[in-house]
Amino acid sequence: MPVILAKYMGDYVGQEVTLQGWVRLKRKHGKIRFVELRDGSAFVQCVFIKGETSDQAMEDFKKLTQESSIEVTGVVQQNPRDGSYELLVKEMKIYQISEPFPITPKEHGIDFLMDHRHLWLRSKRQWAILRVRAEIIKACRDFFDERDFVLVDSPILTPNAAEGSTTLFKTDYFGETAYLTQSGQLYSEAAIAAFKKVYCFGPTFRAEKSKTRRHLMEFWMVEPEMAFATLEDVMNLAEEFVEYIVARVLDKRMEELKILERDISKLEKIKRPFIRMTYTEAVEQLHKLGSDIVWGDDFGGDDETILTKQYDKPILVHRFPASFKAFYFELDKENPELALGVDVLAPEGYGEIVGGGERSADIKHLLEKIREEGIPEENYKWYLDLRRYGSVPHGGFGLGIERTVAWICGLHHVRETIPWPRMLNRLYP
Ligand code: 4AD
Ligand code: MG
Repeated sequence: MPVILAKYMGDYVGQEVTLQGWVRLKRKHGKIRFVELRDGSAFVQCVFIKGETSDQAMEDFKKLTQESSIEVTGVVQQNPRDGSYELLVKEMKIYQISEPFPITPKEHGIDFLMDHRHLWLRSKRQWAILRVRAEIIKACRDFFDERDFVLVDSPILTPNAAEGSTTLFKTDYFGETAYLTQSGQLYSEAAIAAFKKVYCFGPTFRAEKSKTRRHLMEFWMVEPEMAFATLEDVMNLAEEFVEYIVARVLDKRMEELKILERDISKLEKIKRPFIRMTYTEAVEQLHKLGSDIVWGDDFGGDDETILTKQYDKPILVHRFPASFKAFYFELDKENPELALGVDVLAPEGYGEIVGGGERSADIKHLLEKIREEGIPEENYKWYLDLRRYGSVPHGGFGLGIERTVAWICGLHHVRETIPWPRMLNRLYP
């Protein structure tokens, strides 16, 4: 009998097939017995009926517990009531009868679930979220591959700090100091002179001492970088990219969004053009909305929440005070207090999912900023070389995968958007 994935059952109606998976739950209704099986590709009802099902399988049904691993062979049928496919079981093989599973259908506290993340992954919600995540990652790759960006991977161990010296994870590299990368951007800036348009995609690390629903210590970031590009080009690309990702999930992952009870109408509104405003305009608007933010301060999570609840589309906030931005930004010629940066804030209170902008071409300015950071200059010699040999206006951005998944799935916290979250005070499992 062919072993198939349950999601393909529709191609086998009336035929005998074998499914392999785990018992999600079992129940009895009169003389009929049911197992809800998960095989990783779908959730499917398996029906045990005396006469149709072997006597042995009827007997073995009694032993089944939640999460027991089994193989069932039977005939695929379409349920006339809802059109779903089910398996009329003939034979069953038991791989293991599971011990009592710690995660039951009743409610569990978040700490308990996080301690059991290795088992929690099997739940329907986590299954749906991580399948949306996988689709978003594929969409990211497709988007840039289709637009002539070359994937150029950046290193994880690096002597450089891209995003400030206060959030570095430090490690010993044979007597030298190395950090876990905060961003692949600086390396992508080198790669554009070889490939013009590049992107890197990988895990990035920030020792953020903040315990918020938006922060992880380890998160995944996709970072495009373009030669001969201005802030305007970067904003246009970010807008097109975010629209593309949402459209892809709506196209391919509707079943998962339904499991998550996501309000689809909110996602259907994510169409260009998005909202654009300068940092200064955003601060003025925040004041009207009751925030006490002072011009020159970075947005707090609350500011982003209030602002994004005003619109049903993402907001591109651009031209920030250079004082709180990273060292590499180009300054606005019309007002050198401003950095040519852009953040994309997701609606419904989600806030920043993208950060980027145009990079400085000025070696003197870059050196000054590097000195202010107090990190060894010699580690940036290679980076400054890029301004010596064929320097061009350029820019790019980074999109955080976990915050994007949280927004698209409608989740309260980023901890469920990555298989193995690394958070303040949590390294297990
Ligand atoms: O705004 P950030 O710090 O920008 C950069 O790292 C640039 N070097 C990217 C570039 O231009 N190539 O981070 C970019 C995005 C944020 O908008 C957010 O989505 C995500 O990365 N991010 C985090 N996600 C989860 N936990 C954290 N601690 C994050 N820090 C940033
Ligand atoms: Mg940022």
